[in-house]
Amino acid sequence: MIRASDYDPFSDAVMRDPWPYYAALRREAPVFYLEKYDTWFLSRFEDIRASTTNDVFSAERGVTPEMVMLKQPPPPDPVFSMLDMPRQRDYRRIFVPRYTKRAVAKMEDSIRARTRRLLDPLLERGHFDVYSDLADPVATLTIAELIGLPEEEALDLRAHVATFFAREPGQVGTTEENDAGRVALMTRFAEIVIERQQAGDAGCAGDDHLSVLLRAEIEGGKLSLPAILAAMYTMLVTGAEVVPLSVANTIYYLAQHPDQRAQLVADPALIPHAFAESLRYDQPTNLLGRTVRDAVEIRGETLEPGAGVMFLWASGNRDEAEFERADEFDISRRPQRSLSFGHGAHKCIGEHLGNLEGRILLEELLAAAPDYEVDRDGAERVYSEFLHGYHRMPIGF
Ligand code: HEM
Repeated sequence: MIRASDYDPFSDAVMRDPWPYYAALRREAPVFYLEKYDTWFLSRFEDIRASTTNDVFSAERGVTPEMVMLKQPPPPDPVFSMLDMPRQRDYRRIFVPRYTKRAVAKMEDSIRARTRRLLDPLLERGHFDVYSDLADPVATLTIAELIGLPEEEALDLRAHVATFFAREPGQVGTTEENDAGRVALMTRFAEIVIERQQAGDAGCAGDDHLSVLLRAEIEGGKLSLPAILAAMYTMLVTGAEVVPLSVANTIYYLAQHPDQRAQLVADPALIPHAFAESLRYDQPTNLLGRTVRDAVEIRGETLEPGAGVMFLWASGNRDEAEFERADEFDISRRPQRSLSFGHGAHKCIGEHLGNLEGRILLEELLAAAPDYEVDRDGAERVYSEFLHGYHRMPIGF
């Protein structure tokens, strides 16, 4: 039987199947410490939720597993996902107007048109990969447009992100190849920013993120080039990575539950609930963290300043204390609370966009191919301590 003490987020077994480890952690050691990373792991819904609003935890030393556990330094220039209030709010404010529910709703027609344009030729083939042929390009082209990246380059830039996140069995942290992907991306980003700067007023007149970043004045001055690059990187990575995984996951779980799929086909208004359930059941942003700023006690354990703390979102979303039959995929749930988009000051800025993209992609897919079959041998999960879900989802119909 798997014990809490067997847990290590970088171990091969946990990368492949974290769920039994999460159950053991919640049961035996909900506030679990691993000395080799000087990091605490919170696995229960309630503890994670409460900690996201507790300002003894800081995002300023980074939030990714590499930064929190392996103590890799965060980027030196401010990016709002790695700032604490009130600075975080000042930087995040630049983007918020494009991500409100109302602003995002205006994108529905263009995202649907993009989805159909990509889907139509795939339908003629009779088989395709939901992740790489459809959901990934839709999400990438959408966030690229928001950032202000050239459309014809968006998919190549996205490929660098995939290189950065690729992991081999036994790998802990990033390799030279991973880092080369990030460098290639940032180099091209820098050229794009400089081209825009050289275009003068015309280069920053729009409402895309890059224009707004070039115009912005924060903390008494314009943003530095590295700060602009860090913001572009954050928006591309977060905007392109997670939705495709979530859509592929939903397609997979619906194939496993034909009765629930039939309900959706009969009543597409249920699709947002199915997408929400898929995010709960198989959270794509598996874990993210903070660093302890002031000593704090949780369930009798004292977390000392300087230690890392990881929020195991995916575990919290499977906590029986919050969700009945938490290990069952059930689209009839109407949960009051969720950790799928995080909580507190760093709650996902792209929640409405992610939900809209997820709904449109599933609506179009289920309308066009309601009887799709998943090629289970071809379906493949991401191998990563951070991202979870299916990045190969071949279907035929
Ligand atoms: C289904 C899709 C998505 C899921 C499950 C998801 C999940 C999350 C989670 C759990 C966080 C909290 C991070 C933390 O507390 O450290 C987060 C933050 C964030 N998400 Fe999402 N996300 C999704 C889609 C998107 C999209 C489409 C965007 C595009 C803009 C986006 C942009 C961001 C950003 C920029 C942050 C950092 C916010 C901050 O630190 O203030 N996400 N997301």
